[in-house]
Amino acid sequence: MRILFIGDIVGKVGRQAITDQLAKLKKVYRPTVTIVNAENAAHGKGLTEKIYKELLREGVDFMTMGNHTYGQRQIYDFIHEATRLVRPANFPDEAPGVGMRIININDKKLAVINLQGRSFMQDIDDPFKKADQLIQEAKQQTDYIFVDFHAETTSEKNAIGWYLDGRVSAVVGTHTHIQTSDERILPRGTAYITDVGMTGYYDGILGINRAEVIERFITSLPQRHVVPDEGRSVLSGVLIDIRSDGTAKCIERILINEDHPFEM
Ligand code: FE2
Repeated sequence: MRILFIGDIVGKVGRQAITDQLAKLKKVYRPTVTIVNAENAAHGKGLTEKIYKELLREGVDFMTMGNHTYGQRQIYDFIHEATRLVRPANFPDEAPGVGMRIININDKKLAVINLQGRSFMQDIDDPFKKADQLIQEAKQQTDYIFVDFHAETTSEKNAIGWYLDGRVSAVVGTHTHIQTSDERILPRGTAYITDVGMTGYYDGILGINRAEVIERFITSLPQRHVVPDEGRSVLSGVLIDIRSDGTAKCIERILINEDHPFEM
């Protein structure tokens, strides 16, 4: 099984990058399944039903979320019917949506799990314990298990990668919007990367307009985050090949922007 995972799609520029690049990427890499992190897809915060459907039309098979899951009020109205989406599993049980789904792809089953870190983030349930519980559940149906760990610190992401090594096919980090170059197969067969990076405005700061972010650092005053509607884009992702026993064979980074154009 080959998984194409694309990191945090930020706003319109990120969505446009999917429109421009995804068909080409799929043609070249022929993934079995395409998963994206969509928690910033609507103006940088959350996801609307329209964008959810638009991404599916563009060729995305499945979406993961994060701390901005409930950033758009309308998610409350459609998350229950959004069968191709998971939100962090360690949110309280009362939070709408589910944290793991098992999807069918060409007679195979893939469990997609979304978890969120706790270092410098909201104080939610323990992602490590939640992972134990979900893996046990998933294993009854499949050895193909993919985890998106949405977290701030490299150490917490590293820790969960090692903690889950040999028990899941892949642990990919999201949230920081900066791609790390530490992709590897851990000794017991789990593909790992600390952060996949983002898909959005290339000339901003984490996909956001530069001026306000710089101003905030200089003045320490609150500033409105502006997510531009146009500009140069970057697309960040990984390609992971998984053997039939659920262990990963390889993980390759994808980074497409004007400095690193995609050549077919
Ligand atoms: Fe996030």
